[in-house]
Amino acid sequence: MAHSGNSAAELARRIESKEAVVAILGLGYVGLPLAVSFARAGFKTHCFDSDRRKVAAINAGRRYIRHIPASDVRAIGESGGRASASLKDLPSADAVVIAVPTPLTPQREPDISHIIEAAVAVASTLRPGQLVSLESTTYPGTTREVLLPFLARSGLKPGRDFFLAYSPEREDPARAGHSARDLPKVVGGLTRRCLDLASLLYGKIVPEVVPVSSPEAAEAAKLTENIFRFVNIGLVNELKTVFDRMGVDIWEVVEAAKTKPFGYMPFYPGPGLGGHCIPIDPYYLLWKAREYGRTARFIELAGEVNAAMPDRVLRRTAEELNRERKSLNGSRILLVGVAYKNDIDDVRESPGLKLLDMFEAGGARVDYHDPHVPRLAGRGADGKGMKSVVLRASALAEYDAVVVTVAHSKVNYRMLGESARLIVDTKNAMAGVDAVRARVVKA
Ligand SMILES: NC(=O)c1ccc[n+]([C@@H]2O[C@H](COP(=O)([O-])OP(=O)(O)OC[C@H]3O[C@@H](n4cnc5c(N)ncnc54)[C@H](O)[C@@H]3O)[C@@H](O)[C@H]2O)c1
Repeated sequence: MAHSGNSAAELARRIESKEAVVAILGLGYVGLPLAVSFARAGFKTHCFDSDRRKVAAINAGRRYIRHIPASDVRAIGESGGRASASLKDLPSADAVVIAVPTPLTPQREPDISHIIEAAVAVASTLRPGQLVSLESTTYPGTTREVLLPFLARSGLKPGRDFFLAYSPEREDPARAGHSARDLPKVVGGLTRRCLDLASLLYGKIVPEVVPVSSPEAAEAAKLTENIFRFVNIGLVNELKTVFDRMGVDIWEVVEAAKTKPFGYMPFYPGPGLGGHCIPIDPYYLLWKAREYGRTARFIELAGEVNAAMPDRVLRRTAEELNRERKSLNGSRILLVGVAYKNDIDDVRESPGLKLLDMFEAGGARVDYHDPHVPRLAGRGADGKGMKSVVLRASALAEYDAVVVTVAHSKVNYRMLGESARLIVDTKNAMAGVDAVRARVVKA
């Protein structure tokens, strides 16, 4: 074990030689790929998660996130590391990386309870020579104002005895062409030494480290990336509603606009925002801004536009049913897609789920089809859960409307076009499909 006097030099040596042991706290969409990367880079990697099913899956080398194969999960065990729900292996770690969730409270304020739990856990086993890095997305100030006080209670001095950094994650699950491991990674340290050590560690798993002057700058950089997306999706959703009225197709417009190679980048409309990041992170800044007597009006406005989208899809579907002299109440609706975006199995904050609830509340009888989400626990009229229905031509004809909320590549849209009656398409999934029978409405 390192002594406090030469903690930094010893830790640097251990990272360089890959003797350093890495521990990841929180093994979800961010933590698991991170653990795999450290393991594959040659570090013994331990995993800690309060969810015992994830712990068991890692130790059995079993896949539990659809797009992360079992061979990747097995790399953790092959590194000599293991998963645990208890903290017994934590003191042996040289670097502890925290990747726990940062959701919102029902009042849409930051819920940092998982970060606090993680801080208590790491503080309880903190020893000289450890590097702690927070990766959870959060408001500027969290590393210094929330995490540091717990760690400092140990009596150890930050920047001398232990090292603290913030490094946001750029994981975009199932994105083709970009893995977070191929992208530059922003790092902010509490002190220069903290920055250097964290940069050294992350430099072993990414092609480029982008050092910034403080944890706050790194926290703010992550929020800026996601707020940019949130606001631009709000903008394109608003443009869609305007162009719709003019009879202009927003999808055609974006395709044309994106041929400009500078000053524009394409964002696409949809039935609303989903996932654990884009709908949530901007509210972390909005909340923190109040402490400084500031508001963030772009965030508020984009939030309003984006939150109204599921309602718009519901209204549009009801209008189209009305044209056929049908009411939403009593209609049979098939939702195609309950995941929050294309080609993944994540349903957190998904607009598809919101629409499912809204259609049911409106009296419709709803089924869903999603090749990535075979079951939905606790849903359905009796609350006993729902199963993804199989797409069959004869069954499709029985639905009054098919509402498409994602453009999964595994869905047979041609079959929808051939057999459904009315398709309300929120993702332009029917583009290029010859809708032989169906009336297709873009919404
Ligand atoms: N999902 C993404 O694409 C993405 C991308 C970039 C950043 N982020 C951010 O990364 C963080 C993690 O997100 P995620 O999507 O991986 O979440 P997740 O819910 O998939 O995983 C978090 C894991 O942490 C575990 N956990 C919670 N409290 C714990 C505790 N006290 N001790 C040990 N384990 C604990 C949970 O059981 C869960 O397995 C969030 O701040 C999120 O905003 C997520």
